[in-house]
Amino acid sequence: MATAQVQLQRGLKGVYIDTSEASFIDGEIGKLLYRGYNIHDLAENCTFEEVVYLLLYGKLPTRKQLAELDKTLKENRSLPKGALDVIRVVQQAHPMDVLRTAVSALSAFDPEAADLSREATIRKGIRLTAQAPTIVAAHDRIRKGLKPVAPNPNLGHAANFLYMLQGTEPDPEDARTLDVDFVLHAEHGVNASAFAARVAASTNADLHCAVAAGVATLKGPWHGGAAEAVMKMVREVADPERARAYAENLLSRGDRVMGFGHRVYKAEDPRARHLRERSRTMGEKKGHPEWFRILQRFENDIMAPYRAKGIFVNVDFYAGSIYYLLGVPDDLFVPIFAMGRVPGWTVQVVEQFSNNILLRPLLQYIGPMDVPFVPIDRRTG
Ligand SMILES: CC(C)(COP(=O)(O)OP(=O)(O)OC[C@H]1O[C@@H](n2cnc3c(N)ncnc32)[C@H](O)[C@@H]1OP(=O)(O)O)[C@@H](O)C(=O)NCCC(=O)NCCS
Repeated sequence: MATAQVQLQRGLKGVYIDTSEASFIDGEIGKLLYRGYNIHDLAENCTFEEVVYLLLYGKLPTRKQLAELDKTLKENRSLPKGALDVIRVVQQAHPMDVLRTAVSALSAFDPEAADLSREATIRKGIRLTAQAPTIVAAHDRIRKGLKPVAPNPNLGHAANFLYMLQGTEPDPEDARTLDVDFVLHAEHGVNASAFAARVAASTNADLHCAVAAGVATLKGPWHGGAAEAVMKMVREVADPERARAYAENLLSRGDRVMGFGHRVYKAEDPRARHLRERSRTMGEKKGHPEWFRILQRFENDIMAPYRAKGIFVNVDFYAGSIYYLLGVPDDLFVPIFAMGRVPGWTVQVVEQFSNNILLRPLLQYIGPMDVPFVPIDRRTG
């Protein structure tokens, strides 16, 4: 019966949908593990490439294993001409829409596109991880009327992205900061975009479909779009002394301060620590300490009372200032998150396929029942 009492779990809050060996989050104490390893150890000691290996194969690589993965990633950085043609056609769109479209287009050129086996899905995940930065960088250059820059096999994943975007080899410390950012974004349980990827995979749709769904879902400001929104806010504030009035105006309208709050973390997001410190040092090094001062005003002053409600900074709060200081255009902030998350989406899809079940929840119908049908000529409007 439509009106029967049902237990609604709006937003699937607190609902476990499956088991996973990829990551563990304790939102109460702000703890995050990838495959059992603490995010702090990984952020301090690992490259993104090592974390890709860890997530996809379940263990940290030896030097030989890492070298093999590195070689495969580098071999797969270039895009087929057809994918570049697609990027040219849709170049006016938001970079996330271009990324989503290019990921879809790449399925046409991937010989294993329809292969749902674990091995093929991991291989495709590695290819998409390698291709995503090239898509984003090539698109940014094309829309600016510039020629795409070919990938540089002498550079690691993060450094090569900055090189393809800006056409010059980045400062190694800048490249390492982006590398750490990728490490921090690589996997995060069944968040909205990973859930979307799993829903696609739950129908036995292939990895390109699942990653396209993930990219689509990540675009929104309540998920991946927050870093861009934070930097927009900080630029509008421009001076720490104006931050309070700005925030009070925002909050009194019932709006949220972007970069704060999280569905799972009710303590500080452990990923924020690394980006906070790098935002500070990078701001000082590049002669722009003002952005960090404004961010600190929000965190330690204006939003401090919200901690009692479990609202702390999340990973996106300091990320925007880092991308900005790296000279990355604002609308590439979410695509950078997506680039880092491709391995996470891949591992979630591999897990979904390994014991697949159709993800199909229910809606409680609250509309009218058994309405008498009226033929079109007798309808009164
Ligand atoms: C991430 C987010 C969507 C999580 O939402 P959620 O789990 O559904 O939490 P809720 O929307 O139920 O929020 C709980 C309460 O905290 C408030 N709140 C949550 N985030 C807030 C924020 N950033 N600023 C101000 N208040 C916030 C809500 O208004 C709500 O208040 P209420 O109980 O008085 O109605 C939410 O915190 C948000 O919109 N944050 C800003 C966007 C962002 O930074 N996203 C990136 C996430 S990594």
